[in-house]
Amino acid sequence: MSKDYSKYFHKPSLKEAVDRKKEIIINKDGLDVPSDMVNVGKDKKYFIRTYGCQGNEADSEVIAGILEFLGYKKSNEVEDADVVLLNTCAVRENAEEKVFGEIGALKKLKVVKPDLVFGICGCMAQQEHVVEKILKSYPQVDLVFGTHNINRLPLLLKDALLNKERVVEVFSNKSVIYENLPVARSNNLKAWVNIMYGCDKFCTYCIVPYTRGKERSRLMEDILKEVRDLKDKGFKEVTLLGQNVNAYGNDLNKGYDFASLLKEVSKVGIERIRFVTSHPWNFTDEMVDVISKCDNIMPYIHLPIQSGDDEVLRRMGRRYKYEEYKKLYNSLRDKVKGCSISTDIIVGFPNETEEQFNNTLRAVKELEYDSAYTFIYSPREGTPASKMEDNVSEEEKKRRFNLLVDAVSESAKKRNDGYVGRVLKVLVEGYSKKNKNILSGYSEENKLVNFKGKEEMIGKIVEVKITTSKTWTLEGEAIDG
Ligand code: SAH
Ligand code: SF4
Ligand code: F3S
Repeated sequence: MSKDYSKYFHKPSLKEAVDRKKEIIINKDGLDVPSDMVNVGKDKKYFIRTYGCQGNEADSEVIAGILEFLGYKKSNEVEDADVVLLNTCAVRENAEEKVFGEIGALKKLKVVKPDLVFGICGCMAQQEHVVEKILKSYPQVDLVFGTHNINRLPLLLKDALLNKERVVEVFSNKSVIYENLPVARSNNLKAWVNIMYGCDKFCTYCIVPYTRGKERSRLMEDILKEVRDLKDKGFKEVTLLGQNVNAYGNDLNKGYDFASLLKEVSKVGIERIRFVTSHPWNFTDEMVDVISKCDNIMPYIHLPIQSGDDEVLRRMGRRYKYEEYKKLYNSLRDKVKGCSISTDIIVGFPNETEEQFNNTLRAVKELEYDSAYTFIYSPREGTPASKMEDNVSEEEKKRRFNLLVDAVSESAKKRNDGYVGRVLKVLVEGYSKKNKNILSGYSEENKLVNFKGKEEMIGKIVEVKITTSKTWTLEGEAIDG
């Protein structure tokens, strides 16, 4: 007998994903839970593995919040769980390969636990070819949902759980912002706060605008309410999230922008405010001014450059030239006292010449970043760059990548050396992973600091004198340790 699950069968479409015309709807209804799903998770457990960016981590906390609302408890072991979800990332091929490997490895769980619901969500689920591949070759996957319908998890889970059907529901073009969904935060000191979703930049190599849809900003009042609430609950730090936070408010026509948002969030009085990611193109002088003047806005900026060569930047669709980037970079270094700056760089963009790569290398040496995330270009199906010819061999890309990593490490170490002897304020998160006698936390500049101190410092912001610098971390001693 065939079951009717057509209502929960909706596949992604690349064509729909590029549409930017739809009106943005703010849905404040919160979660819709069918009556037979209330408490369905009693005595049961869930497990979520998150791949990808902070936006995905924030989504996983909402997914966890929904599952806990249904009565499920968190499990740290995948073997103990009754619902297993992989919240995936599509930004590079190796991220996808890891997920397919994991889907294969988890097949055995279904054998010992046939009632287990195994689901795939996140950015990979937004891609047509991925969903086709799952449907064809991975029968162990019961549930596929995307980034636009997390709010419908109770309904989708119901079909997978109670009707034992394969459920696929992915929308490509839903310009909705969901407010008031439950959130189970994974850290009690630091919280993610989405300020906007989606991306309209369409850099030619990037899949994000297709997987996350149109740029849409939350209302300032909703963001401020969330930050106030976090402060009242004792959180010390918020990170404002968006693929391009500088574009905040552009879609709203409310007369406010990212600079005004930062000012208001600062006034809430939470101890630390961070934000990612800033696209260099929309960075205004006013933003620089606000960041430099508000003490609780941390002096750390992630400013992706991607390439140091104008022609490559043009083909990437980045909308700035190296000299413009450098001007902004220097003005941040000048005006935001003691700030640290990190970046993202792609090597091996199609047909990147030796000379173009050398321009990137030169930029890294010239700018002296505190750190950089470096990637080898990975063609993403459906993006303009994936159709460009590429005459650079994998071997050559790896060679360039290694040269770049060396340059970044050198610059990071040099920057860190400058902190020795200085006192930094560190938000203490707990004991260091490697050494149980050492405390660990991040400084205002986003430096990971390992130091000798007392247990009661955990959860507090303390002053640490830096004694040693390593490439990616600093070591020191608490001032009143
Ligand atoms: N919105 C952010 C970036 C999100 S993706 C921004 O614009 O800065 C994070 C990083 O992944 C990008 O900055 C880029 O360096 C890298 N990336 C994105 N697509 C990629 C691809 N196709 N191949 C390799 N790296 C990629
Ligand atoms: Fe991707 Fe560019 Fe958007 Fe960043 S700004 S998410 S790199 S398209
Ligand atoms: Fe990856 Fe999606 Fe984030 S593609 S980087 S998880 S927006």
